[in-house]
Amino acid sequence: MASDVDIVVADDPAQIVAERLAALARDGGSVVLTGGSTPRVAYETAAELHDDWTSVELWWGDERCVAPDDPRSNYGMAKAALLDRVTTRAVHRMQGELGRDEGARRYTSELEAVDGFDFVLLGIGSDGHVASLFPGEPSLDETARRALGVEAKLEPFVDRITLTLPLLASAREVLFLATGASKAAAVRRAFADAPSRATPASLVRADDGVTTAVLDAAAAGLL
Ligand code: 6PG
Repeated sequence: MASDVDIVVADDPAQIVAERLAALARDGGSVVLTGGSTPRVAYETAAELHDDWTSVELWWGDERCVAPDDPRSNYGMAKAALLDRVTTRAVHRMQGELGRDEGARRYTSELEAVDGFDFVLLGIGSDGHVASLFPGEPSLDETARRALGVEAKLEPFVDRITLTLPLLASAREVLFLATGASKAAAVRRAFADAPSRATPASLVRADDGVTTAVLDAAAAGLL
């Protein structure tokens, strides 16, 4: 087991993540949200736990290159589950509708104001990807740029904008959320096997902070 990751296996991972997000909303700071479907319930619960999110700056780890009201939009999911239910002040949406290269360029400009994030939430794909950093891709080797436009290597097959590994790793806290048996093999490769470009999740750890993986029993089934 990777000693650099605190593994938490829980009956209700969404509740754990929701409570952490609500605490961040109370305390303030910079928070990177993930997309996909897993975090939706955690976002909905976090909105119920705390409705004043004006002390926190919200960012995204990745976005699909679609309009914000497209059902595939990570921002659109967070808007329905969280943003529309709380008061916010600073929401830094990735403009996926501009396309992957212009969208990444615009986000890179916004990111100039960031000196490391306080908190990064990540999901894990069944292939082991995080954000839109896919297995074996050149994006894994990017050390200069903070955001990139990339091609999707897993559903949905739309271009993406993604943060890069060094920026994710600069966070004071990284929290992975994964549930379901379909993630068990990727979770094992991410947290029990040696780090590998074949499993981007195995390459993301908080350089000078805490890395936690919150899992249900099914996703932890091969650990
Ligand atoms: C995305 C996400 C991605 C996600 C994983 C897991 O844009 O797809 O940001 O990195 O976290 O693919 O997605 P699920 O939660 O839907 O399994």
